[in-house]
Amino acid sequence: MIVRFDGRVAIVTGAGGGLGRQHALGLASRGAKVVVNDLGGTLDGNGGTPSAALAVVEEIRSAGGEAIASGASVTDFGAVQAMVADAMRAWGRVDILVNNAGILRDKSFSKMDLADFRLVIDVHLMGAVHCCKAVWDTMRAQNYGRIVMTTSSSGLYGNFGQSNYGAAKMALVGLMQTLSIEGAKHDIRVNCLAPTAATRMTENLMPEAVLKLLEPAAVTPGLLALVAEDAPNRAILCAGAGSFERAHVTLTEGLFVGQPADAVERIARQFAAISDRSAETVPESGNAQGTLEVGKAMRALG
Ligand code: NAI
Repeated sequence: MIVRFDGRVAIVTGAGGGLGRQHALGLASRGAKVVVNDLGGTLDGNGGTPSAALAVVEEIRSAGGEAIASGASVTDFGAVQAMVADAMRAWGRVDILVNNAGILRDKSFSKMDLADFRLVIDVHLMGAVHCCKAVWDTMRAQNYGRIVMTTSSSGLYGNFGQSNYGAAKMALVGLMQTLSIEGAKHDIRVNCLAPTAATRMTENLMPEAVLKLLEPAAVTPGLLALVAEDAPNRAILCAGAGSFERAHVTLTEGLFVGQPADAVERIARQFAAISDRSAETVPESGNAQGTLEVGKAMRALG
C-alpha cells in the first residue's frame, strides 16, 4: 500500500522552515494541496514576514504541486478563520490539519516572566485550538478529518528551563485526547507527534554529529502516517533520527485503601504497590479511572 493524499487539502502551520516545511513538502509530494502557513517570526516569536511561507509554496509549485501561502499568526483566531476560508475558496475542503507552529521562551521557572509563560501557551495551545476550531465544522460535515498536534518530550517528560513550553505541549495531549473522542463518529482522527529534530529550535543544544542524524526529514514519515487515510486515533508518536516510538498515558491497577483513620499512613506505606506497573492499562477515556476505583471499592466492601 502506498500512502497518497491525492484530492486531500492540508494546512500545515509554522511551515516556513524546520519540521513544518518538511511536512508540507512531504504532503505535497504525495499529492496533497497544501496551505503553507507561517508567521515568519524569530524563534522567540517576534516580528513576522510572509517570505518564509512563500518560499515553501514556490518550492512545492516548482515540483509540480499545488500550494498557497498564509502569513496568519495562529494566535489570531480571525486570521486563522480567514486562512481556512482561503483554503475552502481555493479547493472546497480541508482534510488535514498539522498544528506545528511554535516558539520558545526558555528560562528557569524562578526567572520566568508570566508574560513569557502566557505567550508560549498562547502560541502552542491556543494556536492549535484556534486552528482546530476553524476546521472542525468542515471536517464534521465532510465526515473526514486528520489532525496532528505537535507535542514534545519536554511536555511528556519535562525539561529544565521549559516549564512554559512543557505545560503548553502537554496541554496539547489533553486537547488531542478529547478531540479524538468527540471526532470519532465523523472519522476525524486526532493524534500527537513528539519530534526530535535539528532545527533552529535545537541548533544550540546538541553537537554537530548528533544534529546531522536529526534531520527534520527523518520525522516527516511519522507525521504522514498520522494523517493518512488509515491513520490511528489518539496515538502519541515519538519520532527522531529515523526512529519511532509510542508514548502512553497509563493508569496502574493501584489498591483500595478506603477511609480508615490512618489512610494517609497506609498510602505513604504502600506507595510502591500503588505505583506497581505490572497491571497498568491505557484508558480509553477519563471514565476509566472512576470505573476502576468504584469497582475496587465495591469488591473490597463486598
Ligand atoms: P522552527 O522554529 O523551525 O519552526 C516553527 C515555525 O513556526 C517557524 O517557522 C515560525 O515562524 C512558526 N511560527 C511561530 N509562531 C507562529 C505563529 N504564531 N503563527 C504561525 N507560525 C508561527 O522549529 P521546529 O523545530 O521546526 O518546530 C516545529 C514544531 O515542533 C514546534 O511546535 C516545536 O515546538 C515542535 N518540536 C520541535 C522539536 C525539535 O527537536 N525541533 C522537539 C519537540 C517539539
